[in-house]
Amino acid sequence: MLDRFSDGLQSVINTLLGARGKGRHPIKSLLAGSWLGHPLHPLITDIAIGGVTLAAICDAIWLIFPQAAVWAPRAAEVTLIVGVLGMLGSFFTGWSDWSDTYGKERTTGVIHGLLNSFTLVLVIIAIVFSLLDPTGKSMAAAVLTFISFALLSYTSYLGGDLVFKDGTNVNHTAWEHGSDTFERVGSLSDFPDGQLKRVEVDGVPVVVVNLGGKVYALAATCTHAGGPLDEGTLESGVCVRCPWHGSRFRLRDGKVVDGPATVAEPVYDVQISDGVVSLKRR
Ligand code: FES
Repeated sequence: MLDRFSDGLQSVINTLLGARGKGRHPIKSLLAGSWLGHPLHPLITDIAIGGVTLAAICDAIWLIFPQAAVWAPRAAEVTLIVGVLGMLGSFFTGWSDWSDTYGKERTTGVIHGLLNSFTLVLVIIAIVFSLLDPTGKSMAAAVLTFISFALLSYTSYLGGDLVFKDGTNVNHTAWEHGSDTFERVGSLSDFPDGQLKRVEVDGVPVVVVNLGGKVYALAATCTHAGGPLDEGTLESGVCVRCPWHGSRFRLRDGKVVDGPATVAEPVYDVQISDGVVSLKRR
């Protein structure tokens, strides 16, 4: 049931974001944080959590000291508005990130996303109650803020699970070290012109491309979610495109040219001596 719902939702999101074809994915790259070199979602969630937490604290102060803390309801309103802006950013970046997940991380992610979307609605209603109350002291707004804070605390916990237990959106080459010295991986004739070929350097998979005698080598594991770049496509002799979600990496330096990847591919220096190709992690 949840799987069928997730299948349909991922398809809708990727269609809306223009991420289904083989072309570039500018909206998805923007939301992923490819332009920043860092996932965008975790940065924005801090604003959402901080805003709602401060609002809950202000409301608690107002309930405990109603006479002394006359400023608190207005302060709660302002911080809630900041929080809702963060939640809107989290909504778009989060669902975009989730649309590339599979298995357990997808299941945890859809619960995380649906609860956060519901909380976003509660916070918007709380702001409306607060703005409509002529005294600026709405008990209904305060109650909704407390419920939102509790829900957001739980969804943050699920977000932590997604990253720390399931490895969602972590750099999938982070533990690859490669070799500090040049290692032979074959002769130049083993690498036909314009073809992606997989080799291993010190146990690490590397994709090698020979372009008219000029050889390039990148880690073969996509930094985004671990896709095999050697099964991807070579584009214009400049980039390699991941077969899983279409991220493009520049052969010359591993730079992300198109997302959803946010981290550059590790690059290998190439040495060709007497027709023998050797690689070393840069
Ligand atoms: S694994 Fe997602 S773009 Fe490569």
